[in-house]
Amino acid sequence: MPLPQRVKIVEVGPRDGLQNEPAPVPVGVRIGLVQRLQDAGISVIEVGSFVSPKWVPQMADSADVFRGITQQPGVSYPMLVPNMIGLEAALAAGVQEIAVFAAASETFSQTNTHCSIAEGLTRFDAVIRKAHAHGLRVRGYVSCVLGCPYEGGIDSAVVADIARQLHELGCYEISLGDTIGVGTPLKAQAMVERVSQQVPVQQLAVHFHDTYGQALANIHAVLQQGIAVVDSSVAGLGGCPYARGASGNVATEDVLYLLNGLGIETGIDPDRLLEAGRYICTTLGREPASKLGRVHAARADRGATGSGYPAKRLSSRRRNSPITR
Ligand code: HMG
Ligand code: MG
Repeated sequence: MPLPQRVKIVEVGPRDGLQNEPAPVPVGVRIGLVQRLQDAGISVIEVGSFVSPKWVPQMADSADVFRGITQQPGVSYPMLVPNMIGLEAALAAGVQEIAVFAAASETFSQTNTHCSIAEGLTRFDAVIRKAHAHGLRVRGYVSCVLGCPYEGGIDSAVVADIARQLHELGCYEISLGDTIGVGTPLKAQAMVERVSQQVPVQQLAVHFHDTYGQALANIHAVLQQGIAVVDSSVAGLGGCPYARGASGNVATEDVLYLLNGLGIETGIDPDRLLEAGRYICTTLGREPASKLGRVHAARADRGATGSGYPAKRLSSRRRNSPITR
């Protein structure tokens, strides 16, 4: 299959990234990050979550973050929701899109959400019905699609079955999460091949954590199967509080470099994206985990200007022109 002409990037740094910080990041900084990401032309930004603050205190105050954003037309701001309490919070905040999350591992499901896979899906049935009744769009995640920190290998048939159920419950897109970043390209392709027998590939996204440095290779592999939606996290922020050792999501800057090199449109301005990464890394007092961020920092130290992205792609970029697909 030819590579897609355009890819939609779903930026998960403000949620998947910052949920893993050792201490909660101030609301103003979280808002500042979202603003910079949308200024870079990202059309979907997962802003936060309405989960239990007892379990994930980093995402407390997500309602304040959501309310503090100056929303841009054409940009979606999904919020992660685990249950009806989370949905009620989302509705009260005026959220227009939520994301629900299931796992392909029973142990991970119990650890992450204190319920079985089946119980979680039953919860989501009610949550999605109510969300739809209020006009919200619902995205779905399946975690541990290529491996579980507790159970090891995961059968792709199980992943496909859960993805199908989320799709049938009404999720417009299912994101396949390699939560602990153990996948390699052939395994990723085999999993996507299996899942796309149950859910149209146009409604699938991939969500790779980069623990073993395989995420870009995995993305390149599944682009060849028709995947055109990629989750990533600015500056490679993140991990998973329930998956020890899992490193951050693949860095948005590096995904953009890959896509630009392949001649695939995203609508994202690399300079502004780098600025968003620099902002959050400076605020958190750390080096960027993105390769591009490091190159850029080194170039800046030498007095060079520009992002280091291929010049051809820079000239054809379209500032603030989010993709809606
Ligand atoms: P629980 O403790 O089993 O819930 O948590 P409960 O229903 O028994 O309620 C216990 C208490 O929590 C009650 O309060 C509830 O009100 C409260 P109390 O009476 O004790 O004062 N509560 C809530 N508070 C705020 N918001 C809520 C909420 N629900 C209950 N929504 C629950 C069950 C699922 C809520 C909990 O386990 C939880 O919040 N887990 C967090 C899971 C999480 O956020 N994980 C990280 C995100 S998933 C991820 O990162 C993977 C992904 O990136 C994809 C990939 O990489 O694979 C998406
Ligand atoms: Mg994740």
